[in-house]
Amino acid sequence: MAKVKTTFFCQNCGTQYAKWQGQCNACKEWNTIVEEVVQKPEKSDWKTPTNNTKRASKPLRINEIDSTKEARLDTLDAEFNRVLGGGIVPGSLTLLGGEPGIGKSTLLLQISLKLPYKTLYVSGEESQKQIKMRAERINPENESCYILTETKTQNIFKQIEALEPNIVIIDSIQTLHSDYIESSSGSISQVKECTTELIKFAKETNTPVILIGHITKDGNIAGPKILEHMVDTVLQFEGDRNHVFRILRAQKNRFGSTHELGIYEMQGSGLREVSNPSEILISKKDDELSGNAIAATLEGMRPLMIEVQALVSTAVYGTPQRSATGFNAKRLNMLLAVLEKRAGFRLGAKDVFLNITGGISVDDPAIDLAVVAAILSSNEDEALQANFCFAAEVGLSGEIRPVQRVEQRILEAEKLGFSTIFVSKYNKISLKNTAIKIQLISKIEDLVDLIIT
Ligand code: TYD
Ligand code: MG
Repeated sequence: MAKVKTTFFCQNCGTQYAKWQGQCNACKEWNTIVEEVVQKPEKSDWKTPTNNTKRASKPLRINEIDSTKEARLDTLDAEFNRVLGGGIVPGSLTLLGGEPGIGKSTLLLQISLKLPYKTLYVSGEESQKQIKMRAERINPENESCYILTETKTQNIFKQIEALEPNIVIIDSIQTLHSDYIESSSGSISQVKECTTELIKFAKETNTPVILIGHITKDGNIAGPKILEHMVDTVLQFEGDRNHVFRILRAQKNRFGSTHELGIYEMQGSGLREVSNPSEILISKKDDELSGNAIAATLEGMRPLMIEVQALVSTAVYGTPQRSATGFNAKRLNMLLAVLEKRAGFRLGAKDVFLNITGGISVDDPAIDLAVVAAILSSNEDEALQANFCFAAEVGLSGEIRPVQRVEQRILEAEKLGFSTIFVSKYNKISLKNTAIKIQLISKIEDLVDLIIT
């Protein structure tokens, strides 16, 4: 019998070592190196080739390569399509990560049930009955969706060969195991091996594969970082389990932009696509409250109206507190310093709390002006007019700076019925006859005069 071969793997980054050591050289983490049993026969193909007739690839001149766009598979889910960059690319491997209970299985099952192609949904986590129960809540009518409960990759590939599906979904990569590796499911070497087999399968048959991956407490996809390097697309499904909204974003995408955002609402009958997110992100109130301001931001190509809330109060203890949720805390401090210097506000002895509602985080600089307006409003305890909105960056000397694609923001604000949008004087705007008033300002002092009576 062959001697059992073991190797040491860092559980954080997947680096391989011949012997144990306390700290990983690659990621510098301590106590993450663990011994795992590996045993690899010569062939670890997804399908051991019987007659190896496939020719090795040859170099081709770049202009000889066929560049006709490969038709993407339409998932019939507008949000999912958008995040992927227009549908699923044949032969691609997509990894969907997210916290437990956020709705990864629901999302992919729902997509499988909508797809007009032959889909194989492989689950290592739930029984066929459980999946059927879930499917009945979503959409029980689908002729071309097959469910398989199996965790051994070799058996999965056997079923795939018989069924020949157009798309394969794996829930989840951490439950799979391959015969070629002896360590337990979910270990680094298993996850790596199973993914390699699936990549081979996807590339050789041009069948797209979507993997569900668990994430660890600190938000990384459990298992090696290399998993993220191996796949073509990494999607992250996030949100607060106590909120109904879920956000799908691409962390890495070989076939499209990573700026797009998909928004869903969790309902009793599955996830509903939210095609007009601005409406849900702005809370509807009867009373006007101080400290609220609306920013016209952009996420990818899509305009998004976001509500910013600020609370300014007298600091009880010596050092005033500054805290920001969904917004960069350093940027908040900078904006406070600008307000202090340019608008004469004595914020040094005040606590300032800032919150972006809806549980999303924004890094569009165009939100600056809304942040400043919300702080001013809370400081004066005077509500802004509810139909005001803002889109501009604030510079260090208190100047109001232009932002990109301002016209798109103005049109979105107009569509949602805002009466006035505050933008920088230096933005070039060629819009004519808009129903919304475009208020051009150049310095922070102008803003103070206009919004505080
Ligand atoms: P699930 O999709 O199993 O999450 P994950 O695979 O990411 O661990 O769980 C989704 C949660 O959503 C679960 O707590 C129940 C709830 N849910 C609904 O509210 N409506 C539904 O239609 C379904 C199927 C689930
Ligand atoms: Mg699940």
